[in-house]
Amino acid sequence: MASVSDIGTTAIEQGVLAAVRSVLGPAESMIPLHEPELTGNEAAYVKDCIDTGWVSSVGAYVDRIEHDLAAFAGVGHAVATANGTAALHICAILAGVEPGDEVLMPTLTFVATANAVSYAGAVPHFVDSEEATLGVDASAIENHLRGTAEIQGGVCVNRGTGARIRALIVMHAFGHPADLDALAAVCERWNLILIEDAAESLGSSYHGRHTGNVGKVSALSFNGNKVMTTGGGGAILTNDPVLARRAKHLTTTARVPHRWNFVHDEIGYNYRLPNLNAALGCAQIERLPDMLARKRRLAERYDAAFADVPDVRFLVEPAGSRSNYWLNTVVLDAAQADQHDVVLAALNDANYMSRPVWTLMHRLPMYANCPRGDLRTAESLASRVINIPSSPKLAD
Ligand SMILES: Cc1ncc(COP(=O)(O)O)c(C=O)c1O
Repeated sequence: MASVSDIGTTAIEQGVLAAVRSVLGPAESMIPLHEPELTGNEAAYVKDCIDTGWVSSVGAYVDRIEHDLAAFAGVGHAVATANGTAALHICAILAGVEPGDEVLMPTLTFVATANAVSYAGAVPHFVDSEEATLGVDASAIENHLRGTAEIQGGVCVNRGTGARIRALIVMHAFGHPADLDALAAVCERWNLILIEDAAESLGSSYHGRHTGNVGKVSALSFNGNKVMTTGGGGAILTNDPVLARRAKHLTTTARVPHRWNFVHDEIGYNYRLPNLNAALGCAQIERLPDMLARKRRLAERYDAAFADVPDVRFLVEPAGSRSNYWLNTVVLDAAQADQHDVVLAALNDANYMSRPVWTLMHRLPMYANCPRGDLRTAESLASRVINIPSSPKLAD
């Protein structure tokens, strides 16, 4: 029976709020969506930079974080960058994306995925996402390409626009790995380069392989809200040593190594991760397994709490994959989409910071006229997804 305080609230609002409260307890002040945890060697390593004067664009911590990231992700090479967007921009260039090309990507993503492609002079081409993983849907892409594209001389061409479709960017939404095998098969059939936007999925794996290993090149983000942070930062991952060398060259102003001369052999970018930020990251990666373990525990507690709440599902890792549960996610049933704002308001009013998914890319003014497939699942998901507090410290 509803209590006096429940009068005027809907069943779904009560159910979601009760589930979140049962995991997190009552909140006196706002519980953030995702807080950084800087309680290990962060201060010592940053102080070391200050003490030695190595605070800027080169230094031992930059080399160390590149080594540690490659080892953690089981990938051949990691190149640290100023942020994840810069990493994605360079990934597009490394994939051979050229001005005028189109690049397939989800409409359900953060704006950086589309912006990075625009920086390379190319055009985002939006495709639909799956209900199960929130990642791009391989069969929807296949159907869309059959209706829109053809292979001409080994090149995938959009019959409508005449542009070359060069690549597919797969984004692992909130840390849940997309269906990489199926997506890699689509890329193979249509001669597309696979790029992984793994900004949100450090610590997630697909069929035993860390995300970022299937794409030719991949991007990570260490923004303050991610599973580990460098303040701001990112990295490019690749198993190809030639691409790794080129990534380092392009992100460090394309300077030809010399003891004193400043010679740059192409237009490069100052996308370097400062040593100061890398120092923070070296301390974070030491504690990453522990932070991931606690995030998993929190997700398990949410999963149990939502098991009996009708009309909503807690998003769990896809079969065969392991998610870092970067942002815990609930998805309202389609019949409850009109309750989306009501549930968001109830959670935020109760001090549980909660957010909807991003405005879909094709709904943003600068990307409204881009080519796209049928986006009905992404549209539906955007009206039903809610992220709830996910910091590792909330596990206990
Ligand atoms: C999916 C996705 N791609 C790219 C980025 C860009 O990363 P950054 O903020 O480090 O530039 C982010 C996160 O911010 C992201 O969530």
